[in-house]
Amino acid sequence: MYYSDDVIEEVRSRNDIVDVISGYVKLKRQGSSYMGLCPFHSERSPSFSVSPGRQLYYCFGCGAGGNVLTFIMEYENFTFQEALKMLADRAGIPLPEQEYSEEARRQKDLKESVREINKMAAKYFYYMLRSPQGERALKYLTDRGLSDETIRRFGLGYAGQYSDALYRYLKGKKISDQLLRESGLMQVNERQGMYDKFWNRVMFPIMDVNNKVIGFGGRVMGDGKPKYLNSPETVIFDKGRNLYGLNYARTAKKRYMLVCEGYMDVISMHQAGFTNAVASLGTALTSQHAMLLKRYTNEVILTYDSDDAGVRAALRAIPLLKEAGISTKVLHMEPYKDPDEFIKALGTEAFQERIDRAENSFLFEVSVLQKSYDMKDPDGKTRFFQAVAAKIAEFELEIERENYIEAIAGRYQISFEGLRKMVMNVLMQGVPARKIPVRQQQPRPEKEEGTLRSQRMILTWITEYPQLFDSISRYIQPEDFSDELCREVASMLYEQRKKGEINPALIINHFTDVEQQRNAARLFSTAVNVENQRELEKAVQETVYKVMEQAVARKSRELDPTDMKGLQELIEAKRRLPEIRKLHISL
Ligand code: GTP
Ligand code: MN
Repeated sequence: MYYSDDVIEEVRSRNDIVDVISGYVKLKRQGSSYMGLCPFHSERSPSFSVSPGRQLYYCFGCGAGGNVLTFIMEYENFTFQEALKMLADRAGIPLPEQEYSEEARRQKDLKESVREINKMAAKYFYYMLRSPQGERALKYLTDRGLSDETIRRFGLGYAGQYSDALYRYLKGKKISDQLLRESGLMQVNERQGMYDKFWNRVMFPIMDVNNKVIGFGGRVMGDGKPKYLNSPETVIFDKGRNLYGLNYARTAKKRYMLVCEGYMDVISMHQAGFTNAVASLGTALTSQHAMLLKRYTNEVILTYDSDDAGVRAALRAIPLLKEAGISTKVLHMEPYKDPDEFIKALGTEAFQERIDRAENSFLFEVSVLQKSYDMKDPDGKTRFFQAVAAKIAEFELEIERENYIEAIAGRYQISFEGLRKMVMNVLMQGVPARKIPVRQQQPRPEKEEGTLRSQRMILTWITEYPQLFDSISRYIQPEDFSDELCREVASMLYEQRKKGEINPALIINHFTDVEQQRNAARLFSTAVNVENQRELEKAVQETVYKVMEQAVARKSRELDPTDMKGLQELIEAKRRLPEIRKLHISL
């Protein structure tokens, strides 16, 4: 950390968490906190809570949580430093100049370093493309119809013809092998040691929404295999959460986004003026991608390849997008394979026409479905319409169902009334099995065992009702927490209390890693179902008892039999256990 704790705390405390998060998520007051739809996983009913009192957020669905800095890190995909900078600007707090002393450089966090290495590599590839060595690569790109301007805009490059050129270049910049290993740009084998992952390839830097290079795709020039090599996932490169081209597409100001499969497709579309095109990074679209898209648009037009693989990819993507609240259409490229080829062959206007005629995703699904039924056979036809009726029955609103019945009746040989009756029959039979919601992409937080849960509950209560602190601390001391993180956090809370106010959001500042912040926030957000004051008091009493009982048991297991002082303390603790049952707690 290059900023003092005081600076960090000032930035944090001057950015009210409810204000900041309201800029991203629609929040509604509910009791002492605010609730909204979690921006970190797909959901239909709110489980994302923001506590103004504690200045923390927590999602009961996916376990995301932390203070206002964590939120910005997670949402914007920022490092700690970047989040701090943004919030300082927001609050009008000037940050002291960062000093890049030797020491600071060494301490810099891993993410920051890996980012820097990727940036150096991008510059290196960019330079190589314009060097004599890069002549063939540059020709390859211009032969594929890319203008100088496009090549510059996407930062395209060339990896050089030797397999250790980048390695030597980065070594010259004093980057350690340890960091190079983390960068995703190197390969290691026993015989050759470390060498470049990419060589003799045209390079496509992959940027996140903030124009930071996070990885690369590299294409062979010609027919070699594999056609594309991609950076592996690293501390900064999460393929499921980034989309190629989104850094530009996010500002395109179009009603919809075009989602395709390849780097070249994105680039061709942008060059033709369709600057709202993005691609997933050599992987299938994920629900996180869908969430990411939802930040910028409500409508997606899928421009996947027109082969079977493309159709399958579209069928998988549609429900994920729907889940995220995005309506989807499918663009037909026939007789061409992909947007790049289409635009090259027929041009911009023809492509725009295809966009305007893109097919509603439901009707697309139905037309794919139809291919698996024999429509010339009366039974086949009946089964097809039954399947369609079941699908239509899944729509919640009557008006939606009616509209689709009408659309299907117009397309296939069936009367509106006939299909409507079939849909009604499905509805009468109850909810079709398929409708049972809801794809839960993110794992729910694992069921924690009782011990850990009790310890977390204590920390939650101390922060929610600071007035409980005195009664609780009469029995429980930080060392009584068996869980390491709980213990660490408890001693910070006890320390804070000694000096004055309890401030849980400040504790989150002590961790610069989102994962740690999330775990710490969870300690303050352990849900307890209690109906009223009395029940709460009883729950506190029981939990204090449980934690102490466990602590006593642990101490007697670990006690050194020659430690007389320890033995006395243990006896005293045991003696006091039953007192807890009489502990009077009032709020
Ligand atoms: P061009 O032939 O250059 O036009 O490629 P394309 O954009 O048409 O790509 P294609 O449809 O073949 O593949 C789409 C995406 O899948 C690419 O952009 C890559 O991200 C990924 N991909 C393609 N081929 C490979 C491969 O051989 N290995 C890996 N790992 N990914 C690939
Ligand atoms: Mn292509």
